[in-house]
Amino acid sequence: MAEDPSDRELRATAAAVLVANRRAHATVPAPGLYPYQWCWDTGPIALGWAALGEWDQAWAELRSLLSAQWPTGFVPHIVFWEPDDGYFPGPAVWGTGGGAPPPPAPQTTGITQPPLPVSAAAALFAADPDRLRARRELGALLPSLSAWVEWLCRARRGPHGAVVAVHPWETGMDNSPAWDEPLAETPLATNDVLERRDTSTVSAAQRPTSVEYQHYLGIVGVLRSHGWDTEHQAEVSPFAVEDPGFTAIAVRAADDLVEVARALDDTERADRLVARAEQLRAGLEALWDEELQTYRAYDVRAGRPVGPATAGGLAGLWAGCRPDRAAVLAARARAWAQPPGVGVTTSDPGADGFDPVRYWRGPVWVLVNWLVAEGARRSGDPGLAEHLRATTRALVADAGFSEYYDPRDGTGIGGSGFSWSAALTLWWIARG
Ligand code: GLC
Repeated sequence: MAEDPSDRELRATAAAVLVANRRAHATVPAPGLYPYQWCWDTGPIALGWAALGEWDQAWAELRSLLSAQWPTGFVPHIVFWEPDDGYFPGPAVWGTGGGAPPPPAPQTTGITQPPLPVSAAAALFAADPDRLRARRELGALLPSLSAWVEWLCRARRGPHGAVVAVHPWETGMDNSPAWDEPLAETPLATNDVLERRDTSTVSAAQRPTSVEYQHYLGIVGVLRSHGWDTEHQAEVSPFAVEDPGFTAIAVRAADDLVEVARALDDTERADRLVARAEQLRAGLEALWDEELQTYRAYDVRAGRPVGPATAGGLAGLWAGCRPDRAAVLAARARAWAQPPGVGVTTSDPGADGFDPVRYWRGPVWVLVNWLVAEGARRSGDPGLAEHLRATTRALVADAGFSEYYDPRDGTGIGGSGFSWSAALTLWWIARG
């Protein structure tokens, strides 16, 4: 074990990661592996800058992301601010330029990610010591943030009222075992269109398989052939799954927006958003699976619940779900985090499909630990919240700001120098 650094040292090393990953428009998730702005990473990254007292940078991250919003309210999962050969599939593969309705510059993908930046905006608003700036920045962002939530509720409303993801990448938990069955039913792009760059820096054993990548590209091909019509993707995509993780983040986003709209005296907007929050919350609760005792993904194409219990289900805590269910989820999070106490695994360690090193099939992520801990704190389980904070602190102090960690011993795996691992260390673990 490395010597445990003080909070001050930990903050300094985390700050260095954000500084190194800052680009002209936004902070990228990791140099090399992810050289653009990613949607849900933007939330934690903004919080990290705020924790450093860099409020203008914090607000600018959100402004940049929302400046790439499409007229429908859709927010893309990647904004390709600067050309970079380090990532596949880049802008040419997406070809969203000819989409309907036409997106504004810059180039973006045509799928979305969970609206975590909405809650980050609300958190910045609450914490920014310069109240004038807080009101000005949030006031300017509020119409875009609520258009995002409205779009989700309109264009992505699934049969249970939960949010439909039309691509595994939209969930943020790309190769979760929950997607195995629905993904297998999607078309395969031919191998020659694949130009994987990820496996040149990260061991292939820690990444999705090439067959999964062929399916990922196959879905992109279908959505592209439909002209990136963001109003109807849930109808045309070969992959359509109501995702409890995405839905939980959307519930919390809507709740948070209600609060900030009220704080800005925008009562009409607040009332509308209350209805959206209720719709989303009902959708989340409808995904509860009695047998598995978790919020569970629902495959819209096949018409059935799919997959094992995963971190997506645990995210119900983040949403402030039903208290009896929150207690069940908290007990599960505790069980998955033991032993040796590295943190919450991304899927059920006892279920088929678990793999301790393969990305979202088992490894521990700082983001997931934080979503669960913060949810536990709010649902009245400060013990779990503190346990996760302490274990995550030990993890980053020992292994650095990795993309994810082996739950068996805390080894850092995937990419390194990761922005959201560093940012959440600043915001959550080692606040100055
Ligand atoms: C990977 C993750 C996704 C994240 C992105 C950038 O694609 O699966 O959740 O947003 O990397 O960090």
